[in-house]
Amino acid sequence: MSSVLVVEDLTVVYGRRRRGRVVAVDRLSLQIEEGTTFGLVGESGSGKTTVGRAVLGLVRPASGRILVDGGPVQHLALRAAIEQGKKAQVVFQDPTGSLNPARLVLDTLREPLRIHERLKRDASTRAAEALGEKVSLAPGMLRRLPYQLSGGQNQRAAIARALAPTPRLVVCDEPVTALDVSTQAQVINLLVDLQRQTRVAYLFISHDISVVRHVSHRIGVMYAGRLVEVGDASSVSTSPSHPYTQALLAAVPVPDPARQRERRSRRRALAGAAVDDALPATGGCPYRLRCPWTDEVCQRVEPQLRPVGEDHLVACHHAERAVLAGQSAEPAPAGQGSTADS
Ligand SMILES: Nc1ncnc2c1ncn2[C@@H]1O[C@H](COP(=O)(O)OP(=O)(O)OP(=O)(O)O)[C@@H](O)[C@H]1O
Ligand SMILES: [Mg+2]
Repeated sequence: MSSVLVVEDLTVVYGRRRRGRVVAVDRLSLQIEEGTTFGLVGESGSGKTTVGRAVLGLVRPASGRILVDGGPVQHLALRAAIEQGKKAQVVFQDPTGSLNPARLVLDTLREPLRIHERLKRDASTRAAEALGEKVSLAPGMLRRLPYQLSGGQNQRAAIARALAPTPRLVVCDEPVTALDVSTQAQVINLLVDLQRQTRVAYLFISHDISVVRHVSHRIGVMYAGRLVEVGDASSVSTSPSHPYTQALLAAVPVPDPARQRERRSRRRALAGAAVDDALPATGGCPYRLRCPWTDEVCQRVEPQLRPVGEDHLVACHHAERAVLAGQSAEPAPAGQGSTADS
């Protein structure tokens, strides 16, 4: 298999002056193979969108290397990136980000077909209607403006728009977050079907690990700009080895009240007592203030990604202890993390 996306040691910094400087992405590496989905998950502000923007060439990295389909990504303005970016396309949370509100959906779909495939008027209309059919939008629907369609229909149109130039990679940034649950399932099934047909690769960004684990072949967990756990989707979601991944998974509701109660108390223990913001990059583990396992080593030494299984890496000094505790539902060490009512 060939890698459609290679990201090596990517660092993105916003702001210049010392005080306003945010290291949004910190030495992050990942790769995505053809026809597969890499799910990038983490809480708000962890840097997921910034990774997606760097991959699309919309922010200039401070350092690192990004290759899409073997070629380096150039820094571009949004419009140019969408027009020229035949290899990488994007689907946003809010479909109006890629759909022009004053334009019929049909014309929005025809535009990339004219630019990239150089199709004439009738041919581009037929190709746009064929694309519409792939995403279950009838020709009549395509002759409407975005405000005349539902959220799910708009998102299907945005997906068709992204796939029109037959890209190798689509960055899907929270593509179902704004949709209700049943529409979410339809849009996810559509993305999966289209991937089977076209072998497109997805960088699927979401704060919701329950969505990510259903669509992804591999998962990367981000915390404070860093990848803290990465690997095969089933390994990461069934044997999470970083305390932060465990906390994310413990927050996913389950339909059994007794199990839900037990998980809730475990989640309180795992989430840690402190809810402080991530620490600045001053050495040590970025998760140390929230982690029930923090000790002197975590204060001093920044953990690097290391293997804990086949295609499974974690950046935690105490991954083995954390895994055992997660399996036995053992409470966090005394005096740390557990709250009075857990
Ligand atoms: N244009 C910008 N200028 C300055 N700081 C920014 C900018 N965009 C993002 N940031 C900061 O960079 C960090 C990462 O933001 P980013 O949007 O990548 O996170 P995210 O994981 O996508 O969050 P969310 O789940 O809320 O979308 C945050 O601290 C954010 O405040
Ligand atoms: Mg985001």
